[in-house]
Amino acid sequence: MVTRAVMDKALLEATAAALVASGKGILAADESNGTMTKRLEGAGIESSEEARRAYRANLFATPGCESAVSGVILYDETIRQNMDDGTSIPDYLNSRGMLPGIKVDTGTIDFDGCPGEKVTKGIEAEPENGWADLGTRCAEYFEMGARFAKWRAVIQIEGREKPSNACMSANAEALARYAAICQENGLVPIIEPEVLMEGSHNYLECFVATMTMFQKTFEECKVQGVHLAGTLLKPNMIIGGNGYRGAEQTRDDVAASTVICLTHFVPHDVGGIVFLSGGQSDEEATDHLNRMNSMSGVYSEHPWELSYSYGRALQAAALKAWAEEGAEASQAAFAHRAKMNSLARSGDWDISLE
Ligand code: 13P
Repeated sequence: MVTRAVMDKALLEATAAALVASGKGILAADESNGTMTKRLEGAGIESSEEARRAYRANLFATPGCESAVSGVILYDETIRQNMDDGTSIPDYLNSRGMLPGIKVDTGTIDFDGCPGEKVTKGIEAEPENGWADLGTRCAEYFEMGARFAKWRAVIQIEGREKPSNACMSANAEALARYAAICQENGLVPIIEPEVLMEGSHNYLECFVATMTMFQKTFEECKVQGVHLAGTLLKPNMIIGGNGYRGAEQTRDDVAASTVICLTHFVPHDVGGIVFLSGGQSDEEATDHLNRMNSMSGVYSEHPWELSYSYGRALQAAALKAWAEEGAEASQAAFAHRAKMNSLARSGDWDISLE
């Protein structure tokens, strides 16, 4: 296995640029086996290695989806699986012009001293779970064809105590260390400091937590020597919690406060922005992105492509159709959502197209 001694900045920048190419975004299909089992069972399908493979292989084989999908984030199980005809999934995606990516965090653990908070792990080896250390895994995934990676930190807002400064700092440090290790191995790190929508907080509280995570994470990236032009940021949008019962935030408010937060607190040399959907409905996630890409004046004076790396908002309809109607209907549902989000990349989506 080759470990790169010197970071290949040109490769990283080219990969990041390809992932945010015009009209395209990322499909997040990297649910861990636990999460994918919940999703399949929620749709009435028994989960197994083969059930997960069959659903995902069908999704990836959707005719024409490469015009809206620049890359696909896979889970460790999936990157080792094959399409129906025996082609390896990363080789298949590459042959269709969709870059294979890989989730490399190994989940969260309780953050000692701060009840209810979590820190993401995956840098050290976990022999008890069959995981090698992050550098070793990155080198192997690169050999298998992966060109980018994802690590998700989870930040919860609750009352005045959460998120704690300590928990945010620990997650920011891990994100930066992860990013540096990925880059040494030729993988573009997607940096995902997700402030969860679960909770009764308002959108200003979301703004403050998101902004604080940006500041801490990019400070740590500097310490770790991360090459920002060879990274992508995967942020949440600035949005009130799903249990918030106060005055409604309009969709234009979501779009404006998200762009303001990014413009002020994200370094301008980051390679691109790829939003998560975080539990928004399919149509909301598309509409919010469309509004951000339709803004003019000061709101459009930022240097990044604003794109998507949606999981649920790209897959929910496809999974339901897979369970209820079968392969072709699932592909049609996915193709439709992919097309809608592709249009939102340039502000060309409209509700009438739904
Ligand atoms: P959602 O779009 O469903 O939030 O998933 C994106 C993702 O990859 C979360 O880590």
